[in-house]
Amino acid sequence: MSHPNLFAFLLFSTLLLSACGADNSDVELTENQKAAVAERIAPAGHVLMEGQSVTTTEVVTTVSARSGDDIYNTNCMACHNSGIAGAPKYGDISAWALKLEKGIDAVYANAINGIRGMPARGTCMSCSDDEVKSAIDYILANSK
Ligand code: HEC
Repeated sequence: MSHPNLFAFLLFSTLLLSACGADNSDVELTENQKAAVAERIAPAGHVLMEGQSVTTTEVVTTVSARSGDDIYNTNCMACHNSGIAGAPKYGDISAWALKLEKGIDAVYANAINGIRGMPARGTCMSCSDDEVKSAIDYILANSK
């Protein structure tokens, strides 16, 4: 057996023994062990050795806004496709023209804040103002 293999074997048996050695299946880790585990599973790049240069990998999170089409089909169509509770129907040109008489900003605000049977944000609490607006733009683009 060559040395690297022997080493691997020993390491493996040690792990195996320590895993089986605990007769308690819920292994309680000490604070030190937890810290050691946290350090081991920490993303590479977080541990800096002395003399090492700092290289940062920028994590770019792009939370792209969902499209008006997506928002509409997920959150609004249940009421606006069929006109439930007097909701102006998707595609109903005259119903939307009537709403727009008070100006687009008022229409946006009513949808965001809610009005009568229209729940605030159409109940989409995760929708940003812009997402609600884009859903309205989507309805309007298809209702004129
Ligand atoms: C639970 C049913 C329901 C859902 C879901 C719903 N709406 Fe409505 N919506 C209504 C009703 C009812 C009205 C009419 C309210 C009134 O004027 O009495 C309305 C009205 C509106 C209006 C007109 C506001 C105005 O100025 O009078 C807009 C714009 C609108 N909804 C957009 C949306 C958008 C965008 C969504 C999805 C994010 C949505 N709605 C989801 C029921 C709903």
